Amino acid sequence: MSDNPIKIAFIGGSGLYQIDGIENIVEKDIDTPFGRPSDKIITGVINRINCAFLPRHGRGHILNPSEINQRANIYALKSLGTEQIVSFTACGSLKEEIKPKDFVIPDQVFDRTKNRSLTFFEKGIVAHVSMAYPFCNEIRSLIRQTVYEIGIKYHFCGTYVCIEGPQFSTKAESQINRQSGFSVVGMTLFPEAKLAREAEICYANISLVTDFDVWKEREEVTNDAVVANVAANVANSRRVIKSLILKLSRREIKCSCGSSLKKSLMTSSDRVT
Ligand code: ADE
Repeated sequence: MSDNPIKIAFIGGSGLYQIDGIENIVEKDIDTPFGRPSDKIITGVINRINCAFLPRHGRGHILNPSEINQRANIYALKSLGTEQIVSFTACGSLKEEIKPKDFVIPDQVFDRTKNRSLTFFEKGIVAHVSMAYPFCNEIRSLIRQTVYEIGIKYHFCGTYVCIEGPQFSTKAESQINRQSGFSVVGMTLFPEAKLAREAEICYANISLVTDFDVWKEREEVTNDAVVANVAANVANSRRVIKSLILKLSRREIKCSCGSSLKKSLMTSSDRVT
């Protein structure tokens, strides 16, 4: 492992607590102004490319979605030099055609969380960053290419609605989410995606479908089925990482994610004399 910045990072969700084929592992215990990340960050080399991996819930899944210190997670990855993040999240499907074990590469996200620190900018520093397009489209295209090559069934586009959790939705909530046109429901994509944008990091997500949430009549979800789906999704995620990392490392960056703050409204500067 060289001292070069670690430009590529993966954030793992439920079930994905470690990745395959990573060599020269160094675990980094990073403290940040926002506190500690979910776990030590695993750095190493895959296919000769430096990368970092962070299990969002901590190894052993010890943090519920509201307990994850997402500011510390993104800050810690940024401090390593990260320019591109691919995050993995488990989710429930809100549409008939999106089935368990499918991969969804969302292009939109809707925030229904209630209890999270949403920004790095506070205490006298105010910035309003654009979130119209919350994900890096260049990385989304590379993900699509990768999952297609591997042969995973995927949906390119869709809206992820992020609920607070840790409870799953009620039937009423699930029906409202469906009527709103959302594609999948999960508990962790926010504020991660917003914070990555504030940190000027290219960020895209792969949502791994484990269930049909609770809207579907006569389709009661069993724990055994969800566990089997999580296992299949994790195995596929590991295959995706190995192949995607090559594409990410060769990518010619043309997007504007890395200069998001240039275009943001920094109201606090009005007060500088
Ligand atoms: N994660 C996996 N399945 C989910 C669901 N149905 N609702 C919220 N988060 C989930």
